[in-house]
Amino acid sequence: MEQDSVRTYRLRGSRITGPQQSALDKYWELYGIEYSYDFLDIPALFPKSKEVILEIGFGMGEATALLGRDFPETGFLAVEVHKPGIGKLMARVEELALSNIRIIEGDAHPILKTMIPDNSVDGIHLFFPDPWPKKRHHKRRIVNNEFLKLIHPKIKAGGFIHIATDWVPYAEHIQEVFSASDIFKGGVVDRPEWRPLTRFEGQGITKDHQVNDLRYFAL
Ligand SMILES: C[S@@+](CC[C@H](N)C(=O)[O-])C[C@H]1O[C@@H](n2cnc3c(N)ncnc32)[C@H](O)[C@@H]1O
Repeated sequence: MEQDSVRTYRLRGSRITGPQQSALDKYWELYGIEYSYDFLDIPALFPKSKEVILEIGFGMGEATALLGRDFPETGFLAVEVHKPGIGKLMARVEELALSNIRIIEGDAHPILKTMIPDNSVDGIHLFFPDPWPKKRHHKRRIVNNEFLKLIHPKIKAGGFIHIATDWVPYAEHIQEVFSASDIFKGGVVDRPEWRPLTRFEGQGITKDHQVNDLRYFAL
């Protein structure tokens, strides 16, 4: 896979548990999508879905699986670089008998460029992107002007990106980036009831981190 952009994720060991590896072995054929240089036929992936959401960086896929269960008429195309998380989500998809989740392994940047056609998704979920708190790491934050230009054409007219973050300075950065852009409009919204409370978010709340939800519409 090409890596022509700054890495926005942390390199972690590929320590994978037995059940995660066995889920990958068993279910990759069913739910996994290899990185490729060809655009995906998204309606063919989700023939029964009324809308399709692209999720970037699903982690262990906790929220993804619960949204898949709660919104059976929505297709979820979920992207993550972290193999153990992919195995974990595949196991959950199987456990909950979901048919509306497909998983692409890899970096969202090249995936957006070469695999996601224009006007093909109704919305994007970006839940708790790595905040990269140190100043020298700010360039690794996924939300920047280039990212906005990359995702905008992929979103259907009237579609959106929904972001949640528990790092207030990142929420401020996100607002600055979007308000400087004339291709999206929106801002901070109340925490929506449909967004599942994950272990990650629960831990943040225990540490008194304030969670912000931000929703922007593509113009
Ligand atoms: C802080 S975690 C949050 C995970 C999950 N969304 C949640 O709410 O628990 C951020 C995740 O984004 C993934 N990530 C970061 N940059 C990415 C990229 N460019 N493409 C795909 N995944 C990415 C990381 O591997 C990590 O799993």
